[in-house]
Amino acid sequence: MNLETLKEEIRARADIVDIIGRVVPLKRAGGSIKGLCPFHQEKTPSFNVDPKKQSYYCFGCHAGGDVFNFVMEYEKVDFMTSMERLAQQTGVPFEYDRDGGAHTGPKKDRLYAIHEQVCTWFEETLHRAPEGDTARKYVEKRQLGGEVVKTFRVGYSIDSFDALLNRTREAGFSDEEIEASGLFGIREDASPGRDRFYDRFRGRLMFPIRDEMGRVIGFSGRVLHAEQSKAKYVNSPETVLFKKSRVLYGIDLARKEISNRRQALLCEGQLDVIRCHEAGLTHAVAAQGTAVTEEHALILKRYADEVVLLLDSDTAGVKAALKSAEIMLANGLTVRVASLPEGEDPDSMVIHKGPEALKDIVRDAESFVLFQIKTLMAREPEINEASRMRVIRAVVETIGLAPEAAHREELLQQAAKTLGVRDEALRQDVRSAPPRPVPRPHGNPATPPSAPAPAPSRAAPRTDRLPPHEDLFLELLCFHPDLTETARPFLLPNHLQHAESKAILETLYGLEDLSTARIQDAFREHPSRNRIAEILMRKRHLSGEKALAPERALQDIIMILREQALKRQQEALQVQLTQVKGDRAADLETEIWQLTLVARKLRECRMGADWVSATKLLAFYE
Ligand code: CTP
Ligand code: MN
Repeated sequence: MNLETLKEEIRARADIVDIIGRVVPLKRAGGSIKGLCPFHQEKTPSFNVDPKKQSYYCFGCHAGGDVFNFVMEYEKVDFMTSMERLAQQTGVPFEYDRDGGAHTGPKKDRLYAIHEQVCTWFEETLHRAPEGDTARKYVEKRQLGGEVVKTFRVGYSIDSFDALLNRTREAGFSDEEIEASGLFGIREDASPGRDRFYDRFRGRLMFPIRDEMGRVIGFSGRVLHAEQSKAKYVNSPETVLFKKSRVLYGIDLARKEISNRRQALLCEGQLDVIRCHEAGLTHAVAAQGTAVTEEHALILKRYADEVVLLLDSDTAGVKAALKSAEIMLANGLTVRVASLPEGEDPDSMVIHKGPEALKDIVRDAESFVLFQIKTLMAREPEINEASRMRVIRAVVETIGLAPEAAHREELLQQAAKTLGVRDEALRQDVRSAPPRPVPRPHGNPATPPSAPAPAPSRAAPRTDRLPPHEDLFLELLCFHPDLTETARPFLLPNHLQHAESKAILETLYGLEDLSTARIQDAFREHPSRNRIAEILMRKRHLSGEKALAPERALQDIIMILREQALKRQQEALQVQLTQVKGDRAADLETEIWQLTLVARKLRECRMGADWVSATKLLAFYE
């Protein structure tokens, strides 16, 4: 089967209503199927799924396409991965003829299989094997109920250097697969006759880590008894399957409840997550340790609008809360912080005070801004003008991270009230705060503009908005000036509709050695300086896939803009058509028909994320 046939095979089996319905609550109303759009925030449903056309479309943000587009957009994955996911969900074997596509390393399927097998063995050892005796006692001592131990598939690894290795080999896994699984340590200087591999997890309580679909992708193992010489936790290393920056422990079990509540509960450790679920807080997840990344935020954003941080009350926990909250805020999530009493974590809280006490704490979680003010104030040795200003500055910076104006306003009012300053004063500070790169512990830092944005007060106030895609396009270029060269050949100022967008693009294209700072400079006296200032003040508004893959986002937007330009051109010709007759009319009709054809082809390119074909098309049709 070739790729195209496989694609159609999957399409035939993946009912779009079913696939979307798994993640977006849909309602049948009259002839249509609707829900709240997962791609933008809204209160009334404008997201439509059409079972006949097997397509979706949002009247609010104009997201739309077929089942593959949905998975790509929703899961933030490329086309091939969307096929793979859908193949899995529909039971179509993901096999096709790869002509010459040299694939290195073992197949992912085999790595999932090895993890699944090992997970089962660990469970068996914990529940039945004589070697699991101490672990069983430990589980009892920690008061972990049988039910959660089963759902979280907790297990035990025998205290041996080769027990697991031998078993894995006997089960038919190759050395290559053993190596790629990450479950085994490698002796780089193995002497002849000595095995290269050894069991990474020995004598540990094993927590399998699963992906959103529930497949085991790695493990975290805890020592049974604290020993100086041993790390408390040993985790899987990064592998093809296990990407620490994306892993959220418990996400497979929690995602349904997270999307029901539109809220996620973020803890620090595996045991905390398990304890929360046991206590009925089944929307709890944890990053591996305290390192929360933008990718975590983006995953949560797909299901939730709000994250409640339930972190340890120690200094590390508070530090983590401040940092995680900023990442969440910058990605458009609202954040609240649940404060545990001194010395407790969610697990110990339940043991000491019972599940209801933990639920109360989660329910009473306070807004992040209030938490931040309290925390920073407490750090100041004395409260005076200078210390208050330090706190205010920090709060202003944090508020500025929120991409939505309404959210900033909300936070600002809370902060003004708590700090006892006028909201107007704070509002001005938020507006003029110098752009700061969004905290991104992993991945490349956002391009930090070197100078503050030009003051908005120097030019006339902005009255109207730019068309949304033109606005987004300009924003992308402002934050990723290196992409200008990608855009230039395929999108001319004249392809834009709004006069101001055209003027801005003309200026941008006219600049040499582009950088964000250079853009700020060039627009200092430009009629559109307010517009640019406003864009630059958004810091990093682009969310989701657009932030992770700006080039891909740019290509997408260019295709959309060119489609819109074609449509306008068509409309103009339609008007002319009403005023002419004869040969001239026939010519116009042909021209309109051609434009329709190009627009349709372009749309197909966009749906298939096929930029290469789009560029050929666009280069041909100026
Ligand atoms: N962690 C880790 N490596 C370590 C220590 C911690 O990966 N050396 C991660 C684990 O995911 C752990 C989380 O950080 O679950 C929180 O660590 P900690 O608070 O020390 O452990 P708890 O989950 O509270 O476990 P316990 O209650 O058994 O102490
Ligand atoms: Mn603990």
